[in-house]
Amino acid sequence: MAITFEQVNFSYGQGSLSQPILKDISTTIPSGKITAIIGQTGSGKSTLVQHINGLLKPTNGKVIINDFELTSQTKEKQLVALRAQVGMVFQFPESQLFANTVLEDVMYGSLNFGQDHLAAKEAAQAALTMVGLPSQHWDKSPFALSGGQMRRVAIAGTLALNPPIIVLDEPAAGLDPLGQAELVKLMLNLKKQDKTVVLISHQMDQVMTVADWTLVMHQGQVIAAETPTTLFNRPLSWFKKVHLDLPTAGQFAQQLMAQGWQFKERPLTLEQLAQAINQEVTIHE
Ligand SMILES: Nc1ncnc2c1ncn2[C@@H]1O[C@H](COP(=O)(O)OP(=O)(O)OP(=O)(O)O)[C@@H](O)[C@H]1O
Ligand SMILES: [Mg+2]
Repeated sequence: MAITFEQVNFSYGQGSLSQPILKDISTTIPSGKITAIIGQTGSGKSTLVQHINGLLKPTNGKVIINDFELTSQTKEKQLVALRAQVGMVFQFPESQLFANTVLEDVMYGSLNFGQDHLAAKEAAQAALTMVGLPSQHWDKSPFALSGGQMRRVAIAGTLALNPPIIVLDEPAAGLDPLGQAELVKLMLNLKKQDKTVVLISHQMDQVMTVADWTLVMHQGQVIAAETPTTLFNRPLSWFKKVHLDLPTAGQFAQQLMAQGWQFKERPLTLEQLAQAINQEVTIHE
């Protein structure tokens, strides 16, 4: 279920009003892995991922999603097949909750796709279990839940359809640390089930923890496609240029270096930082 962009250009609007937003993007999102898309605000991340389920179509070029080819010529009717493959979780998805109970909300998509009541219920229960929402909440109104719980219900609604590709646009935005940790668990769980996960994130610690592959967007282009470790070992000047941060451990190490510490490699996780500090201290003793 790899996703390949081939010379994709995209503009919102037409004619003289059109402005190129995606510029000549050729890249591949690997199947069965977690790919993080990062980049400063307005760099085109949300626009890019909306090409994965055909919500937007390339103005030029094509996107190949498994064996589906999306071009400017693709008809709405053909998109039904694509949408069954790609589950999309938008920013603040809880704003789309509407049903009387949590369970009904999560069942809605499956029923809409023509599943019978029992199958839809079982899929919804499995999805709610997967997002870690305890069953005592399933018969409640979704609006009686906390923000983080509502977010999980909304994500369950997408997972219940069991799509092989799941796209999450800033799923952790506004969640407390516990909610964010739950989300990391969920993404790793999805990967275990061989899903292809695409995650837009502004949190470099999260990217470092979960991502197998990263795409960096800058002014409508993909300017880096590599593992998080390779990425976060790029020179500091590069991060300044593209307005991105290092993971917290890397920033911390940077501060220590400003005070004369030396590290063989830039630590990128808490574990690596602790180990590097330990080595430094040992050397000085
Ligand atoms: N519906 C639209 N019509 C016209 N221009 C748009 C539309 N949506 C986005 N844009 C423009 O396209 C560019 C890319 O926007 P996009 O939302 O893809 O960025 P992003 O990387 O997701 O940013 P953020 O991190 O803030 O979510 C921006 O300049 C934005 O103003
Ligand atoms: Mg966005």
